[in-house]
Amino acid sequence: MSRTTVVTGAASGIGQALTGILTERGERVITVDLRDADVCADLATPEGRESALAGIRELAGDRLDGVVTCAGLSDWKSVTVRVNYFGTVRLLVGLQPLLAAADAPRAALVGSISGTQPTDPALVAACLADDEVRATELADVAEKESRGPQIYASSKAALAQWARRTCTTPEWAGAGIPLNVVAPGVVRTPMSAWLFADEAMKKVMDEAVPMPLHGYADAVDLARPLAYLVSEDNNLMTGQVIYVDGGAEASLRPADHF
Ligand code: NAI
Repeated sequence: MSRTTVVTGAASGIGQALTGILTERGERVITVDLRDADVCADLATPEGRESALAGIRELAGDRLDGVVTCAGLSDWKSVTVRVNYFGTVRLLVGLQPLLAAADAPRAALVGSISGTQPTDPALVAACLADDEVRATELADVAEKESRGPQIYASSKAALAQWARRTCTTPEWAGAGIPLNVVAPGVVRTPMSAWLFADEAMKKVMDEAVPMPLHGYADAVDLARPLAYLVSEDNNLMTGQVIYVDGGAEASLRPADHF
């Protein structure tokens, strides 16, 4: 029987490319996005997340083979934390029972090389404590204090840590659900278009995220490893933050960091 996988952020970029790959391989995809999706919902708000979960449950029935969370924002604003961290975690936790009911369930989420860059530790802690009100306040402060890049970095660092903490629990490893993170470098998608449009920003970005192998990624370069992670072939890998980044992480971190 063909697999059914939920893909969030499926209307654009990496999620759209992944939806294409899974569909081509004969699988059913339930797409989630703000618009142009099977389930249209705003993952920035608690109501939107519950509406997304209800819509997915209605379409999926009593089980789900895969979930990949690509929906995200990179704006230097608190909404970025609400979508990237709280939207992702709520969706994964809410769908865990449907995954646990499947024979070979898999989950993957999209992090970022930015998760290795300077964060706001209090903001990361508020995310991991599941305190969305506090996290929103801290992100608003970071924006006011011109520490905007820390907001995105913190949302992705928290996500990677959440996945590593969660993957070994009875609800995930114990239920046979691998849970991994793909962390891109710079990908040519609508999200990054503004960076390419500005030569000064492009220079800053090239220094912050060097990509000696093949340069900037295309969405499909990220979609392929995500498609593998939610296939039955990935039986034992879990809790990994996989940098699919043309060598950025290996360039930026010491060689003995592995
Ligand atoms: P994109 O902008 O092409 O796609 C993101 C999708 O998420 C859009 O379709 C958007 O409508 C959806 N989305 C945004 N806010 C939402 C909300 N509140 N509720 C529901 N859906 C919402 O961006 P891209 O590049 O495909 O990004 C996918 C993931 O990859 C994101 O998590 C992003 O942080 C991550 N990433 C992207 C990089 C890049 O250079 N493009 C680099 C590192 C990570």
